[in-house]
Amino acid sequence: MDTAYTLKNGEKVAIRPLEDTKEDTTAMLEFINSIRAEDAKLSNFGPPLTFEQESAWLRDIVDQSKDGKKLYYAAFDEKRAIAVIGITKKGDRSMHVGVFGISIDKKYRGKGLGAYLMENILKESARALTITHVELVCFANNTPAYKLYKKMGFQEVGRIPEKILYRGDLIDEIIMIKRL
Ligand SMILES: CC(C)(COP(=O)(O)OP(=O)(O)OC[C@H]1O[C@@H](n2cnc3c(N)ncnc32)[C@H](O)[C@@H]1OP(=O)(O)O)[C@@H](O)C(=O)NCCC(=O)NCCS
Repeated sequence: MDTAYTLKNGEKVAIRPLEDTKEDTTAMLEFINSIRAEDAKLSNFGPPLTFEQESAWLRDIVDQSKDGKKLYYAAFDEKRAIAVIGITKKGDRSMHVGVFGISIDKKYRGKGLGAYLMENILKESARALTITHVELVCFANNTPAYKLYKKMGFQEVGRIPEKILYRGDLIDEIIMIKRL
């Protein structure tokens, strides 16, 4: 993954792995709490997280990354974190499979960043995590995410009916998989 990406509007953003520092914890806390406040179409939702909760999350990412079990990147503009993307290796008889997740700040969506980050993390993940498959889930009403995943070569393999309660509606959860 390159350490910088130029968005479709010409703006440059920095990309790097997360670090177990106070600065990254603060930046990621602000980022995730803005996604939660937005009530975005992903599982992570609810009241704001605390610094301690975010710090524990970040420490886990950094530790597991060293062990080849997670591969995570974040993107930053001049002031703040604007995206996070990650793959977590499963264990036991699914140790060849990684679980994917992505989130982009509202202001930075539709500018090519999601596709860039995803294409590159998928390329790196085979070697970094020793995996051959990546799986993910997506709310059936999350059209931008579904289209991005199809564009990246993911295949829909199933739906769990009404698994998701989103703003009072029951939504199917779509399961998708890609062979690397
Ligand atoms: C889903 C998400 C990651 C897409 O990232 P993005 O940076 O906005 O996407 P890009 O600009 O790179 O677009 C890549 C592709 O995604 C799809 N896409 C993105 N925005 C779209 C939209 N508003 N409507 C339809 N398709 C869209 C398109 O296929 C697009 O390719 P194209 O430009 O050739 O049409 C981003 O919208 C996001 O973080 N949403 C909130 C959190 C979330 O839903 N995470 C995923 C949970 S499963």
